[in-house]
Amino acid sequence: MKILRRRCLKTGTIFLITLTVFAMTFIIREYSKDKREIPFHMFHYPLDINLREVIINISKTGKTSVKPINVYPYTYVKRKENICESKEEITLLFMIKSAPGNFDQRQAIRETWANRKYFKQDIIRHAFLLALTTNASINDRLSLEEETHNDILQMTYVDNYYRNTYKTIGGINWCVKYCPKAKFVMMVDDDFYVATDFLLEYLHGLPSSTVRSLFAGYVFDDIPQRGPTQKWYMPYEVYPFDKYPPFISAGAVILSMEFVKKLQIAIPFTKHFKFDDVFLAIIVYKLDVKPINLSGIHIIKRIPFEDEQFNTTIASHFYANPNDMRTAWFYHLKTLSFRNS
Ligand SMILES: *[C@@H]1O[C@H](CO)[C@@H](O)[C@H](O)[C@H]1NC(C)=O
Ligand SMILES: *[C@@H]1O[C@H](CO)[C@@H](O)[C@H](O)[C@H]1NC(C)=O
Ligand SMILES: *[C@@H]1O[C@H](CO)[C@@H](O)[C@H](O)[C@H]1NC(C)=O
Ligand SMILES: *[C@@H]1O[C@H](CO)[C@@H](O)[C@H](O)[C@H]1NC(C)=O
Repeated sequence: MKILRRRCLKTGTIFLITLTVFAMTFIIREYSKDKREIPFHMFHYPLDINLREVIINISKTGKTSVKPINVYPYTYVKRKENICESKEEITLLFMIKSAPGNFDQRQAIRETWANRKYFKQDIIRHAFLLALTTNASINDRLSLEEETHNDILQMTYVDNYYRNTYKTIGGINWCVKYCPKAKFVMMVDDDFYVATDFLLEYLHGLPSSTVRSLFAGYVFDDIPQRGPTQKWYMPYEVYPFDKYPPFISAGAVILSMEFVKKLQIAIPFTKHFKFDDVFLAIIVYKLDVKPINLSGIHIIKRIPFEDEQFNTTIASHFYANPNDMRTAWFYHLKTLSFRNS
């Protein structure tokens, strides 16, 4: 009897301790969780208006009753209206985001995937999107490059990774104004290998319903980084929601001009956001468009030409080395001609 009671007491004590530990854990977790974070299903972002209505009104009448809040403050060093001169429709325009000092990367791209001589069926064009630099020697070399190749579009702010949203907006504004004949646009970083012919094949196969709002690439479903030392730190005060809308990695974004035009109208009515991929994703989410996750686009790992996935790769990140770029491209051409012979 005594033994039994002692055992009951012991079980009771263990139970109590366990319960306390659970309760404490729960309380600590609840308190450390930031109460300011709002669940994504309550997502809204300035301006809280019907963006689609704004786009419809502006496309139809050029007017809307809403005042813009995010007017683009920059312009271009040179307007470069002749980049897209063409009698016929341009199938694809590459807008290649590049840093002023990346001369060799740009040269490798000109010689490989952006070179028109490889694409006889389609008209393609490209422009490198750059901003300003304060480095005099880079500037000298840049003006020489600009005169030689006529493919440098320079925006009037000083280049910096965290200003990429300005680069994206500047590029979108430019192509709507000076390259409206292009049917498709790819915004891509200068450290990407692109299999342009595979991309064209994909684009030609799209139904017009998809073309209307084409927004494709590598889709991420991600949460904001809240640590002040993290690379993509995002304070609660700026973005209080517990996740981002699904976004396409800004390294490689494929769009139709039809959709670029809608984005261009929507941008001034959407509050600025530091990360260009999330900025576009916010607009796209508000427009009820679903980003397309393309399996041929590789962002987090590089696909070298020896990889078995290379022959289905549309674009691969981590090709900053110009020699790797050339090797991959010429290997690609070789397998293509082998396939076609
Ligand atoms: C769009 O146009 C309609 C008709 O003129 C107007 O009633 C409506 O307020 C406009 N909405 C926006 C957001 O501009
Ligand atoms: C300018 O750029 C060149 C080439 O990248 C570099 O060697 C040099 O250190 C830079 N100068 C300054 C002042 O940053
Ligand atoms: C998109 O596709 C890749 C595979 O290509 C996958 O790893 C990734 O999780 C997908 N993204 C989403 C949001 O499902
Ligand atoms: C790609 O290469 C693999 C072998 O590396 C081969 O099995 C596959 O059939 C190829 N796919 C295409 C589309 O050529």
